[in-house]
Amino acid sequence: MNSSKQISQIRVSFCEHKISSLLLLLFLFSPLTFANQEFHLDPSKVKGPDACGECHKDTIALWKETKHSSTFSKLPRSEKGREIADKIGIKRIKSESECLSCHFTSAMVEEKIKPVAGITCESCHGDGQDWIDVHSDFGGKEVKAENEDPAHKKERYAKSESAGMLRPGNLYAVANNCYGCHTVPKEQLVNVGGHAAGSKFELVRWSQGGVRHNVWYTKDNTEAALERRRMMFIVGQMLDLEHGMRGLAIAKEKAAYAKAMAKRTRSAQLRLQKIAETVESSELTGIVETAGSVKLKLNNEDELLAAAESISTYAKQFAANHDGKQFAGVDSFLPSADKYKKN
Ligand code: HEC
Ligand code: HEC
Ligand code: HEC
Ligand code: HEC
Repeated sequence: MNSSKQISQIRVSFCEHKISSLLLLLFLFSPLTFANQEFHLDPSKVKGPDACGECHKDTIALWKETKHSSTFSKLPRSEKGREIADKIGIKRIKSESECLSCHFTSAMVEEKIKPVAGITCESCHGDGQDWIDVHSDFGGKEVKAENEDPAHKKERYAKSESAGMLRPGNLYAVANNCYGCHTVPKEQLVNVGGHAAGSKFELVRWSQGGVRHNVWYTKDNTEAALERRRMMFIVGQMLDLEHGMRGLAIAKEKAAYAKAMAKRTRSAQLRLQKIAETVESSELTGIVETAGSVKLKLNNEDELLAAAESISTYAKQFAANHDGKQFAGVDSFLPSADKYKKN
């Protein structure tokens, strides 16, 4: 079945449309949704980029050149930003608005929640309060990385992760975060505000260009190793599928948002089918089978969410169980360096 056919299955009755408009009004005027949904991170646990920069100086310098950083000052002054905000009734983009969760990092400043920067280290690695000390302690001030006891290291990683750190070593966790913002799972923002219905995001292409910052363990900001890029590519497609399904599951109207989510899901499904022809893994087979068993249509929330959940479990296992060495089959799919997204 082709993707336009799948999308044409998206239907919504007039009555449901009315209910969803009502919900939209409630949503826009309810102060509660702000409290619940506003922030990608817990502002009371955000340390801010300067805190990370105390040790990660080179990383901060690279990050400052990215759109993740510059959106902080640019978005509130952008014409397109103003246009979107007007359409959904938002006065100040930087304060009580739906824009905060993806474009800004908010922290507590003098007991008030305030946006302090754009998309920061913590937007991608988790709010730092509970792990910032733990992740850099090799077992006392006098112990250097190379002298760290292996058991201590294992425990440090485990402690950091359970305190909310998204470590690069946990590929699913870091990448999941990118897709959470870049698929733009906000129906009103897209349909009413006219916001882009997600990015044409592919993890290797989007992570290996301007946002790359491999400057801690080696100084020269080298691109990720081939095996790592294979893993990134495949896990990225799995996440695209998962987030597409989650996004479609919550869609209420047959309009731009639902169509984009259905298209995203279908494309990821087709790519994963192709990958499965060259890569052998039980997790991948599980995902392809799960995707094939669910209808990409509106009013199918339970089925879509259950499938997304199952895909998520497979994807986590896939990321944890493999290192990419055996997946040369995907090399022809990997973007070449000239395709990496610049700043
Ligand atoms: C006191 C110095 C210090 C501060 C402050 C600091 N880091 Fe680190 N960071 C380190 C050290 C040391 C390592 C190397 C740890 C290792 O080799 O496992 C590291 C490693 C990392 C890694 C890679 C870890 C891994 O497991 O692969 C990330 C990601 C990271 N830091 C993010 C941050 C973020 C985000 C902040 C701010 C919230 C921050 N760091 C603040 C010293 C610091
Ligand atoms: C769910 C996450 C999310 C939310 C919420 C969100 N955005 Fe975005 N926005 C994005 C992403 C991701 C991009 C990058 C799109 C791309 O380059 O593919 C983007 C890009 C933009 C752009 C184009 C780039 C630029 O800065 O000129 C504008 C304008 C914009 N957003 C405005 C807004 C406004 C205004 C709001 C609040 C009403 C908002 N966004 C809320 C995720 C979000
Ligand atoms: C857009 C999301 C994003 C942002 C913003 C971000 N990181 Fe990362 N970071 C990643 C990803 C993804 C990796 C793993 C990259 C790879 O494997 O090639 C990573 C890797 C790292 C590493 C290990 C690699 C190395 O050699 O340095 C450190 C340390 C780190 N980040 C610290 C930081 C700090 C500090 C900041 C803020 C200045 C920051 N990151 C901002 C996503 C991000
Ligand atoms: C908290 C939400 C959020 C997370 C997490 C996030 N991004 Fe972004 N990203 C954005 C927004 C919003 C923009 C658009 C900024 C702008 O132009 O105003 C953006 C822009 C970008 C751009 C620049 C796009 C362009 O058009 O030049 C790249 C590349 C990118 N992100 C890659 C990544 C990668 C890779 C990850 C994960 C490792 C990631 N992002 C995680 C929100 C996010």
